[in-house]
Amino acid sequence: MRKPFIAGNWKMYKSVAEARILARGLRAQLDAVSDREIAVCPPMTALVAVAEELKGSMIALGAQNAHWEKQGAFTGEVAAPMLAELGCRYVIVGHSERRQYFGETDETVNKRMQAVLSAGLVPIVCIGETLQEREAGATFSVIERQMKGGLKGLAAPTGIVIAYEPVWAIGTGKTATPDQAQEVHSHIRKLYAQTFGDAAAQQVRILYGGSVKPDNMSALMSQPDIDGGLVGGASLEADSFTKIVRYS
Ligand code: PGA
Repeated sequence: MRKPFIAGNWKMYKSVAEARILARGLRAQLDAVSDREIAVCPPMTALVAVAEELKGSMIALGAQNAHWEKQGAFTGEVAAPMLAELGCRYVIVGHSERRQYFGETDETVNKRMQAVLSAGLVPIVCIGETLQEREAGATFSVIERQMKGGLKGLAAPTGIVIAYEPVWAIGTGKTATPDQAQEVHSHIRKLYAQTFGDAAAQQVRILYGGSVKPDNMSALMSQPDIDGGLVGGASLEADSFTKIVRYS
């Protein structure tokens, strides 16, 4: 069975001091949880502090991006082995905000994925359609293109997490309905099986992201192909993230 996995994406929020407080708050409420996997992805500046706060905790650490080279003249970028050194276990790759504002393409997503895996980390690769694409009936073809391009040539397909994040649901309060999400998740698993085989497809975790809140998590999680959540806004407070993790 796939263990539910809930990851918080703090985006460009939280100073180091605020990040420490949030991490402590989460530990106090979540350290006893063992039947689901939990991770938080603070901004780069707070990774060291949050790693310290989470030492010995059930909550894992993730980053929000990683470059594909191990080192080099890439001002403003961070390499995957550098994140591993800090104690990161996960790296979000190809978030729609990076695709939209920072020129991320399926090709760069693929290169980052390879680098993250080579560093022994687990990529959480984000895919999802825009509202325009959904309304044009292109959801499945967009997902297919992002899957094919992003996962091309991957050697360790079971060591990844996929996050389906419809762009129109991110930060908008407009969550996909559980049925809408399930429809795409099941398609993603089918595509995954075509490339990597049924056994791997049954193991890979597919998270839903886009306005996940304490009051919609249970319904989303009742769907057979939804294995967890990638949570933005509602992960910025210990109480709301805790409620999401402890969905019943
Ligand atoms: P949201 O963000 O929960 O604020 O919609 C999700 C994400 O972008 O990962």
